[in-house]
Amino acid sequence: MKPSAEAGLRATRGLYRSLHTTTAPRAGPTLDSVLENLSPAVSKFGDLVADYGKGSYVWSTDGRKHLDMATGIGVLSTGHCHPRVVAAIQEQAGRMIMAQQNIFPASRPMVDLVERFRDIMPPSLTQYLFVSSGSEAVDNAIKIARSATGRQNVIAFDGAFHGRTYGAMAATTSKTVYRQTFGPLPSGVLAAPYPYCLHCKARAAAGGLGYGLAPNVPGVGADYAGRACCGGPLEALEWMLKMHSAPADTAAILIEPILGEGGFLTPPPGFLDALRVLCDRHGILLIFDEVQAGMARTGTWWSHQQLSAAQPDMLLFAKGIASGFPFAGLAARPQLFQAMSPGMLGGTYGGSTLGCAAAAATIDVIREEDLLGNATARGAQLMRGLLDVASRFPAVVDTIRFLPPLNVSEEEIDAALSIFEDSLAEAVRDCT
Ligand SMILES: Cc1ncc(COP(=O)(O)O)c(C=O)c1O
Repeated sequence: MKPSAEAGLRATRGLYRSLHTTTAPRAGPTLDSVLENLSPAVSKFGDLVADYGKGSYVWSTDGRKHLDMATGIGVLSTGHCHPRVVAAIQEQAGRMIMAQQNIFPASRPMVDLVERFRDIMPPSLTQYLFVSSGSEAVDNAIKIARSATGRQNVIAFDGAFHGRTYGAMAATTSKTVYRQTFGPLPSGVLAAPYPYCLHCKARAAAGGLGYGLAPNVPGVGADYAGRACCGGPLEALEWMLKMHSAPADTAAILIEPILGEGGFLTPPPGFLDALRVLCDRHGILLIFDEVQAGMARTGTWWSHQQLSAAQPDMLLFAKGIASGFPFAGLAARPQLFQAMSPGMLGGTYGGSTLGCAAAAATIDVIREEDLLGNATARGAQLMRGLLDVASRFPAVVDTIRFLPPLNVSEEEIDAALSIFEDSLAEAVRDCT
């Protein structure tokens, strides 16, 4: 049984459900008062008006307190308003709000950030381009890949979400709604099958588990190394290079090492290594989009480090990098910029002083509070708890993502699991 879309939405809303009312409900501004002025094309999962946040909690204008397991879709890595991050932004705002990167090639907080990046980026990616959103990072990566290789095509993967600007949208296939009526899209962006056993046509054709038959496929965990791929997705990619996009026309392979919007899927062991070998064989660049899964979320600085020792030619970051301040960019091998002229890349707000200060403070907090360790421990706790809940609802197949802050506590994860189970029970009751 699959709960109706409405019931599924109610379960999702359960994640925003009030844990308890801290004050009597009061009459603050409501969504109704502004709804007709907001674009209906932006999806709205609830009817709350956010007032303020602290740690893992958000208070809405009606006075209720909410446990936040979405954190701005994985943005608030250090929770809401971490005092260190707030102080860094406040101090920087008092010193200099804007140091435009063409006028001032670097600012004091950018120097601080670059020093920290040297320690956390893959060693061969020593040059950084700063922008303001994940989509911009993706668009720039496509530009750089085309320019550096002189080739035009980029191969992305089915189910990926890379963003909403035209270049990023062309590489996004997680839902048709992101592209619907917006075409024509830029040409030269193709989608290969993502290596996911549940939807693997090759595996189904070979008589193995295919769509609708696979059991829960756990994410990165103790059993990860034991998972085996039938080899179909890699073969499909090699066919693409024979039949759709010759290696000589293929600039890059772009992949989220762990699919985010596409359902938190991990590729089977060896897949990223095999991509690296394939790319090296054909002179294709390998780009890891770490916008959602990166920045310590999996317990290592970058999610690909959980899966493989393979290093990308470019790594894209955004979301959790600056604890909620709009900041993004990419790290690349310096050779990729060599043939480019000054002016080919840029942007008014790229490398903003406030974003750099927030990102440097975020990295310090992750280090000093051992949030890599906490993400690992709380991730394991959440996975155990969710598998336990799943065992009590064997017929439910919807995908719901949890993106808690990296400093979430053990008690908060337990509370989230219990709220989620109640919401699930309610949704299932409604559709039986
Ligand atoms: C993996 C990935 N790449 C790119 C993006 C686009 O980032 P932004 O929304 O900041 O443009 C997202 C956003 O969800 C993402 O998850």
